[in-house]
Amino acid sequence: MQILGICGSLRKASLNMAALRACSELLPQGMTLRITSIAEIPIFNQDVFDAGMPDPVKRFRAEVAEADGLLIASPEYNFSLSAALKNAIDWASRPPNQVFQDKPVAIFSATPGPLGGARVQYDLRRILGQIWAHVLPRPEVFIGMAPTKFDTQGKLTDETTRKFLTDLLAGFKPWVERMKVKK
Ligand SMILES: Cc1cc2nc3c(=O)[nH]c(=O)nc-3n(C[C@H](O)[C@H](O)[C@H](O)COP(=O)(O)O)c2cc1C
Repeated sequence: MQILGICGSLRKASLNMAALRACSELLPQGMTLRITSIAEIPIFNQDVFDAGMPDPVKRFRAEVAEADGLLIASPEYNFSLSAALKNAIDWASRPPNQVFQDKPVAIFSATPGPLGGARVQYDLRRILGQIWAHVLPRPEVFIGMAPTKFDTQGKLTDETTRKFLTDLLAGFKPWVERMKVKK
């Protein structure tokens, strides 16, 4: 079972990316995680789409299409998605071969504030629902006060958070299996 990790933050010291990397150590048996980059994807423009998709978009769409499931780590920008993440979803969502169609997705978020991205997750669910992705309803994982949960190397040291992510990934496995049966 191949899962594609997508991080909505582009910065090097991203807490969301650090948490996504930690997920590689917390996977249930039979699940692998490969993390992609959305940094090279240009801003969506229908004229550019019509003229031919740029290579980073083609690559991203192919990666999403090939994955059995997606794990999205999302920062919260002004109570919603980062522009980078929304932009990547917009590019991938256009027909033909809308690559989010029937794709199982698990999401989590990390912020320095106490709520851990409580507001962004509902925007993300709404957007992914519109393109027929199937987002795991529970467990929800909000990593609040995130800078206190990683060491200076970006390693996730907080045991409670590691347990929350472990439970998320364990719950995601049967969700992905259910979607496979459907196809
Ligand atoms: C444009 C912008 C808007 C932000 N808005 C919010 C917000 O609404 N809620 C929140 O908890 N944090 C907000 N933050 C702080 C981010 O949660 C913080 O920068 C976080 O570390 C970003 O995730 P990253 O570490 O993965 O890059 C915002 C940051 C930026 C740059």
